[in-house]
Amino acid sequence: MAIIVRISEVAGKVGRQVRTRGWIHRKRESGGIAFIVLRDSSSTVQIAIKKDSVDDRSWREAAESAVESSAYVTGTVKRESRAPTGYEIEADSFRKVGGSEPFPITEYKSTELLLDKRHLWLRSRRMTGIMEIRSFAFRYCREFLDRQGFYEITPPLITKAGGETGANLFEVDYFGNTAYLTESSQLYAEAMVFPLEKVYSLAPSYRAEKSRTVKHLAEYWHLEPEMAYYDNAKSMKLQERLVSRLATRLAERHGNVLEELGVDTATLRKIRPPFGRMSYEKAVEELNQRGVHKKWGDDLGVEDERALTADEKKPVFIYNWPKEMKPFYMPVNPKDDRTVLCADLQAPQGHGEIIGGSERIWELDELMERIAETENEKGVKFNLNNYAWWIDLRRYGPVPHAGFGMGMERALKWLLNLEHIRDAIPFPRMINRMEP
Ligand code: 4AD
Ligand code: MG
Repeated sequence: MAIIVRISEVAGKVGRQVRTRGWIHRKRESGGIAFIVLRDSSSTVQIAIKKDSVDDRSWREAAESAVESSAYVTGTVKRESRAPTGYEIEADSFRKVGGSEPFPITEYKSTELLLDKRHLWLRSRRMTGIMEIRSFAFRYCREFLDRQGFYEITPPLITKAGGETGANLFEVDYFGNTAYLTESSQLYAEAMVFPLEKVYSLAPSYRAEKSRTVKHLAEYWHLEPEMAYYDNAKSMKLQERLVSRLATRLAERHGNVLEELGVDTATLRKIRPPFGRMSYEKAVEELNQRGVHKKWGDDLGVEDERALTADEKKPVFIYNWPKEMKPFYMPVNPKDDRTVLCADLQAPQGHGEIIGGSERIWELDELMERIAETENEKGVKFNLNNYAWWIDLRRYGPVPHAGFGMGMERALKWLLNLEHIRDAIPFPRMINRMEP
């Protein structure tokens, strides 16, 4: 019996007998012929099953099988201009594997229905394409960093303290004590630069953000590299190379899937270094010039981000933000003590921030001063006990270091031009959804 071929390989086998398998994507019957569009992870192909040319069992099982049933098919490949992909398999045999009840996703697809039936909607061609690209995006990020001599590390996700603002932590009952789901693995990555120097984690981060926006998930996958002896400028160079590699690799190797998703691969191929760099101060000036009234110290909202990146095809760094707006671990800029040494990478077309990064305060005295100052500025009480181990790192051979965090779903939302971040992850967690 012929070996199984993937459906994407069928086109290369005209005139030959093949055996394939998949799920029934669509089906119709006319005058003793059943036309089935069969789908596997790679593609779809039309199957023609003629009552007179197959055995009784094949005809019966094909006739009985509803949409989404799974099946094996053996037959001869033909060119067929009327078939959706231009090819057809004329079946010799059809065998049902698992039958299907009437599929609940039909022509009428409300957003809520598609989210409620997410476990089934993931089979759609669109979601299959996105999930395929997602898998390769993870792979290319890892590949890039691995080749730069990084080690992948695996941080804990249950923590005693927040790593960022701490305002959006999910609380967990940890054997009677309070713990939190991590909002960033940075503090652990910092500990691991001592043994390994250049590390990254690719792990979930949790944010109990009450905001319902198209850019926020409660659980997202966070790529967090951390590098000994890097300053912010060197970290930014690494960031643009990483993002460029990701965009161009996807465009070079996955053109068909990207086109099916409506993505312009020519734009992705042009995502090459250097990216634009603009200080926060310059960004505020620029906004005022465009008629958006902003003063120094104001945060930038979605519309501001959109205005700043409107003419850009590539992402843009906005660096050296006011220190009141950024976390306690960022060092003060020696050239302007109102700001800290950090950068956010803004994706074009209003897709928003895809990376946040900074140098880290690495000397003990400076860190303790900054923590005390942060308490005064923000009125937050720092529970130093929760950070004792992390502060401790500054006692034993500290070195300058820097790092950044890229939200994988934010990056995918931009690269695939998705309307909503929830489609960049198979099972989105959002303020009003934790099922399926
Ligand atoms: O800017 P953030 O909060 O920075 C950190 O967590 C640093 N500790 C990272 C580091 O230096 N190791 O988050 C980093 C990135 C953002 O730029 C954004 O891409 C993503 O994480 N992000 C979210 N993605 C989806 N949903 C959310 N609610 C997100 N919050 C942040
Ligand atoms: Mg940020």
